[in-house]
Amino acid sequence: MTIRSTAPGKLILLGEHAVVYGHPCIITAVSQAIHAEVAVNNTSEDLVIAPQVAKTDFIDELVKYMKKKYNIQQGIRIETHADFSDKTGLGSSSAATVVACKGINALFNLGLSQKEMFDICFETVVMVQGSGSGADIAAAVFEGTVYYQNKGEIIEPLDYSSLQLVIGNTLHKASTREYIQKVAKLREEKPQFVDSIFKEIAELVHQGRKHLKEKNYQEFGNIVNENQLLLHKLEVSSDKLDNMIDAAREVGALGAKLSGAGGGDNMFAVVTSDTKKSVEEAIEKAGGK
Ligand code: PMV
Repeated sequence: MTIRSTAPGKLILLGEHAVVYGHPCIITAVSQAIHAEVAVNNTSEDLVIAPQVAKTDFIDELVKYMKKKYNIQQGIRIETHADFSDKTGLGSSSAATVVACKGINALFNLGLSQKEMFDICFETVVMVQGSGSGADIAAAVFEGTVYYQNKGEIIEPLDYSSLQLVIGNTLHKASTREYIQKVAKLREEKPQFVDSIFKEIAELVHQGRKHLKEKNYQEFGNIVNENQLLLHKLEVSSDKLDNMIDAAREVGALGAKLSGAGGGDNMFAVVTSDTKKSVEEAIEKAGGK
């Protein structure tokens, strides 16, 4: 028997970096995903084939961890294919971990809840990566938009299906770990300054959630812009990100900000049906994709 599982990539809407320190964020799954075929292997060895994932260590660790926890003796074969590359900053490591977990859960009838799968994947990612808020795992497990806080203590699925976004990729892969460390260093040097920014970001997340619930995208866009200002103060934006963000705003985006650790990867803009095309063109003109 072969199980087919899927886990989507993610985009952080509000609250990155602060979420690492226990504050809330809003994160959404995107339509691009990682797919896996999971089966019992012919030999007792495990076999992971994941060509589009930079390193298979997340999946390897997950397989080891789940086999031990659930006393699985057989070898497991996992083959993944991704709609997006690990260079796009859409969370390929967490999606790969989650897709493997979902597949193993189904293959061995483990009956795990979404929260149980979240906990397993979060532990695995922390083991391999040594850091991370776990928000990207929540988006991949719950497959939608979630309000997320404090290592998964709060994971609240939200329905914002009418929000229209354009994602702009800088074509520059940044290191999440490096930017997490950069913020940690700044916090060591200026603890009050950084903690007050985190508090402001947390407040924006609360306001943003309210505006999204009311489908007030104009106000949500303002919140997105304010969050970008604070990320700038944390020194995690880049010239390329700034140019793409400015370009999107100039042609009528309701708001725009970087998404993720910063330094490169992605930005997004809040758009309407009327501004979507011009925002896409402006982002491309500014060198993004
Ligand atoms: O670089 P990304 O897209 O993996 O996002 C990182 C977001 C941080 O808040 C900086 C870290 C985290 O684990 O939430």
